[in-house]
Amino acid sequence: MSATPHSPPSSPAMSPGPADRVVVRRAASLRGTVTPPGDKSVSHRAFLLSTLATGTTVIRDALEQGDCAHSADAARALGCVVTREGDATLVRSPGLRGLSEPADVIDCGRSGTTMRLLCGLLAGRPFPSFLVADPQLARRPMGRVLEPLRRMGAQSVARQGGTRPPIVMMGGALQGTRHVLSVASAQVKSALLLAGLDAAGVTEVVEPGPARDHTERMLRAQGVALESGEGPDGRWYRVSRQDGPLQPLELRVPADPSSAAFLLVAASVVPGSDVLLRNVGTNPTRDGLTRVLRCMGAAITLESPRVEGGEPVADLRVRGAALRATTVAGPEVVTLIDELPVLAVAACCASGVTTVRDAQELRVKETDRLQTTADALTALGAAVETTPDGWVIQGGAPLRGAAVHSAGDHRIAMALMVAGLVAEGETRVHGVACAADSYPGFADDLRSLGALVEEES
Ligand code: S3P
Repeated sequence: MSATPHSPPSSPAMSPGPADRVVVRRAASLRGTVTPPGDKSVSHRAFLLSTLATGTTVIRDALEQGDCAHSADAARALGCVVTREGDATLVRSPGLRGLSEPADVIDCGRSGTTMRLLCGLLAGRPFPSFLVADPQLARRPMGRVLEPLRRMGAQSVARQGGTRPPIVMMGGALQGTRHVLSVASAQVKSALLLAGLDAAGVTEVVEPGPARDHTERMLRAQGVALESGEGPDGRWYRVSRQDGPLQPLELRVPADPSSAAFLLVAASVVPGSDVLLRNVGTNPTRDGLTRVLRCMGAAITLESPRVEGGEPVADLRVRGAALRATTVAGPEVVTLIDELPVLAVAACCASGVTTVRDAQELRVKETDRLQTTADALTALGAAVETTPDGWVIQGGAPLRGAAVHSAGDHRIAMALMVAGLVAEGETRVHGVACAADSYPGFADDLRSLGALVEEES
């Protein structure tokens, strides 16, 4: 087998070292119990929204590493004190109006959520903020958040005509505005609602599809009178300027359904598997993968459904099953947008032709995920055709181990490791260190279920 990956490393964000390459072998069966790491989206919001509350927010089970560390550091940079006490992270804030000008640039790393939410949070503050990005994030579009913020009166400077990081948010007075989003994006929706807390009058955001609603849930729990309803253009949300203090929360972050996704697919496609995933978020704006996998014939059951920290959670039991092809399109896409690379692996193992449409947003994620997923799975022998907004995947083509590359994208790295569990022979995945952006310990969790995953230096 060649040690040369299917394509040359394309991300400057990849770090070399022993943990950056793994060899995965075909698995006999996966068995055991895993609690995936804290939800990345909820953790970002817990750190960033805690800066708005006056007093101490207590956060348990958050994802503290990877992308989310940049949100915790941003809270510090704005004058909050972030400490660890036992199993909790404490964020002590002077409240939205007490935040202070950062002494240095705020480094958002590779985290689009940190950068976009900060744009909204900082737009109305009476000081400038400098948001810098890793080269991977510096390629991603920011006009989608800066342009509507400009319509509220926000002044900003960014590269490439105000569309690419780094970004300077100048800070200043904002005016509430009605925004009808053309893309269902939780990051854009969140940024505009956060800016609305500082804007005169009413800020309304109308979304074309059900983008994740963690910001709305958390703001309401903090005491913001956030209204919402259904209108002719889609679901709308309204906030007004907040003059009173917001309440600090005590919350427990559920395990991330987007991280659980890799194990859900792995246990579904490896025959004889029986895996329990504990405490996984089942928010309906995030549970598209479970729904689609079940339509494909996956054996997934929800056990002990409950609500924790304002979010629905359950234990997910998944057993190996024969999968059938499906079609994913329309409003459902946003509910599984980050899970599509690993759904593509499931589709490779299913009988029949799976079609994914309306997923053009994948082209502006950490990588162009339509292309990076298709290239890597094709290198493993899969029959994947890329279309402008999705894939056509002919299931059943046998996967053969090969050397493949994540292109520095955490979700591609993990999707390829899952593919390696069903490929014949050895699959060498290069560039896996970035898996820690959302799932530190992914290889360890796979091994704990019986998978053969070996780190190579
Ligand atoms: C996220 C929203 C989604 C998602 C990203 C996390 C969030 O991005 O893909 O991984 O936490 O708000 P968009 O808002 O760009 O759709």
